[in-house]
Amino acid sequence: MAKIIFKLSNLELEWTPTEDNILELAEANGLNLPFGCRMGNCTSCQHKILSGEIEYENGHTGEPDDGHALLCCCQPAGEGDVVIEA
Ligand code: FES
Repeated sequence: MAKIIFKLSNLELEWTPTEDNILELAEANGLNLPFGCRMGNCTSCQHKILSGEIEYENGHTGEPDDGHALLCCCQPAGEGDVVIEA
């Protein structure tokens, strides 16, 4: 199972399919990150991905900056770990 590693927060979490997205996983574990729409539109939840692959199961309309991901609507792609600058 993929791990989601929040580098600046020094937090390493196991991804579970019960979470809808990486933002919810963070919140469920006490890490409060910025967000706005929670629907993939506003980009206020974007964070830099330092390594690993993410995907958007339900798509998004907002465009994150290069190398960044919209945490409110992304999931790890496959079994590899994802390291986030957060
Ligand atoms: S909170 Fe708006 S795109 Fe994620």
